[in-house]
Amino acid sequence: MKILVAVAWPYANGPRHLGHVAGFGVPSDTYARYHRLRGNDVLMVSGTDENGTPIMVAADQAGVTPRELADRNNEIIRDDLRRLGLSYDLFTRTTTRNHHEVVRDVFRTLYEQGFIFEQTTIGAISAATGRTLPDRYIEGTCPICGFREARGDQCDNCGNQLDPADLIEPRSKIDGAPPVFKETSHLFLDLPAFADQLVSWISAQEHWRPNVRRFSLELAKNLKPRAATRDLDWGVRVPVAGYEEREDKRIYVWVDAVVGYLSAAVEWARNRGTPDAWRDWWQNPDARHAYFMGKDNIVFHSVNWPAQLMGYRDIGPLGAGKGALELPDDIASSEYLTMEGQQFSTSRGVVIHVGDFLSRYDPDPLRYFLTAAGPETQDADFTWAEFVRRNNDELVANWGNLVNRTLTSAYRNFGVVPEPGELTEADEAVLTAIEGGFDTVGALIEQTRFRAALAETMRLASLVNQYVTAQAPWATIKDDRDRAGTVLYVVLRAIDNLKLLFTPFLPFSSQTLHELLGYEDVIAGELRYEEVVEGDDPPYLVMTGDYDTWAGRWEPSALPAGRALPEPRPLFRKLDPAQVVADELERMRRAGGA
Ligand code: MF3
Ligand code: ZN
Repeated sequence: MKILVAVAWPYANGPRHLGHVAGFGVPSDTYARYHRLRGNDVLMVSGTDENGTPIMVAADQAGVTPRELADRNNEIIRDDLRRLGLSYDLFTRTTTRNHHEVVRDVFRTLYEQGFIFEQTTIGAISAATGRTLPDRYIEGTCPICGFREARGDQCDNCGNQLDPADLIEPRSKIDGAPPVFKETSHLFLDLPAFADQLVSWISAQEHWRPNVRRFSLELAKNLKPRAATRDLDWGVRVPVAGYEEREDKRIYVWVDAVVGYLSAAVEWARNRGTPDAWRDWWQNPDARHAYFMGKDNIVFHSVNWPAQLMGYRDIGPLGAGKGALELPDDIASSEYLTMEGQQFSTSRGVVIHVGDFLSRYDPDPLRYFLTAAGPETQDADFTWAEFVRRNNDELVANWGNLVNRTLTSAYRNFGVVPEPGELTEADEAVLTAIEGGFDTVGALIEQTRFRAALAETMRLASLVNQYVTAQAPWATIKDDRDRAGTVLYVVLRAIDNLKLLFTPFLPFSSQTLHELLGYEDVIAGELRYEEVVEGDDPPYLVMTGDYDTWAGRWEPSALPAGRALPEPRPLFRKLDPAQVVADELERMRRAGGA
C-alpha cells in the first residue's frame, strides 16, 4: 500500500522549538516508520516554508535578505530534524524552481477554471510616502482574540487569517502611523464555490478526531473568498497577466506552502530518476494520505488545500488527464505544548530549541516524552522536572533496565543467546503476550493514537520485567544453569520483539539494541543529505534516507539461539535532576546575553 506522510512545513523564520516538533514532527515520524516496517510504500515529504510575510519580518529584524535568512534557517531546521531522527523521504524547501513551477501551475489552472478571480479590496498605503504598505509592515490588534501584535495577514496568537483592514487600531511598523486605506486589486480564491463539495467530503470523514471534523465543518459552512495574492515582494510570482510583472504582488504564502506536499513528491520522483513515480501516491485512489500538524494549521489542510485540489483535479499540465489528485485521508493535528506553564515565546525567551535540547540529551528520551506526555489530544506542558521523571522512572527504570539486566546476565554467563530447554507455560505466555503487541500497538498507530500505542508497548515491557523478576535467572543459574538459560532465551526473544515495537517511537535506541542482540543489518539508520542541482540555480541540500535498505518487519521474529552477543552497554542515561536544572540555568544565562 502507498502511504503519503505529509508533514507541515516549518517556517524558515527561526529555529524550531519543542512545541513545533511535538505537533508535526514526532507523530509523523512514528507513523512513517511503522508503515515502512509494515512493508508499506511510504513517501514522507516536507521542507522549510520560506516565502511570505513571516520570512520577510524575520529578515528585516535580523538585517539580512530573506534569501540569507531562509538559507540559514533551512540549514538549522534541517539539521535539528535530522538529529531528532525524522525520516523524511524528501525534506526540501519552497524556494526551489520546482516548487515555484508546481505552485504556478496549480494557481494558473484554478484561475483558468474560474476559481480565482480579481476583486477590488481595501489595501494599506503609507500615509507618509503614499506607497503600498506591504503586509509585513502593518500590525494592530486582532479582531478575533485581541492579541495586540497581530500582523496584516495573520494573527500569530490565534492563527486566524486576516486582512490589514480587519485590524483594530492598525499601525505602520515603520513610523507607527495609522495606514491610509485605499482601493486596490487582489486575486481571490473562490472558496464558496467548493462549499457543498467540502461539506459532504468532511461529513464523510468519520474517522477524523471529532474536534477536527466539527471545526472544519463549521468553517466549510461559512466560507468567504480568500485573498490568494498579497502585497509583498518575496514569494511565488502570480501567473496571471497584470500581476506577473509586478514587484509588489506575490502568491499568499498559505496558498503556496500547501502545494508543497505535491511539489515535493514531484521533486522526489525527479531526484531519483523516476519522474512519474509521484503519481503512484497522488493519482492513486488506493493510496492513503496522512497529514500531520499543530492545531493552528487545521483550516489550511482540511478546507483550503482540499479546495485547491478539488479545483485543480486532473486538468492542469501536471495532472494532464491522468486522474484526479487525492484528497487528505487523515488530518492528525496536535494541540499546544506549553513550557513550564507558559506559552512558548521566542521573543520573551520562553523557549527551548530542538538543537539546544539535543546538544544536551539524546533524541529518544525527547521523543519518548513528546509521545507519552505531549499534546496529542489536549494541551500539555513541558517541564524539566517531568522530563527527568519520565526519563528516569519510565524509560530507564522499565525498558532500559529490562534490556540492561538481561543482556548483562546473558553476556556474562553465556556470551551467546542461550539454547532453550523445554518452555513452561509461563514462558509461552510471556512470548505470546509480546507477540500480540504487533496487532494491538499497530492498530493504535494506524489510528494515530500514538500515546496509547506507546503506553501499550511500555505495558508489555513491564510484563516482561515482572516475568524476569519472578523467574530470577541470576539466582537460578547457581544450581540450574539450563533453566536460567531458557529464561534468558525467552527474555531475549521478548526484548527482540519489543525492540521492533519500540522502533517507530525510539529508533536510535532500537538500532543500538538491534546491534547488541548481534544483528549486523540496520533497522533505523542514518538520515543523509543529498545535493540537488536544478538548471543554473544554486545547488541546495535536501534530507533523505536509504529506507529501502533497512531491515526489520512488523512481525514476531525468532532470535536464533547460539548467536554471539557483543558486550552490552546501557540504552539510556539516568539524568541527575540537579544537573538538568543547572544546565538549563546555564542556557538561560547565555541566552540572556550575560
Ligand atoms: N509554515 C507553517 C507553520 O509553521 C506550516 C505550513 S504547512 C504547509 O505553521 F501546509 F504549508 F505545508
Ligand atoms: Zn488573534
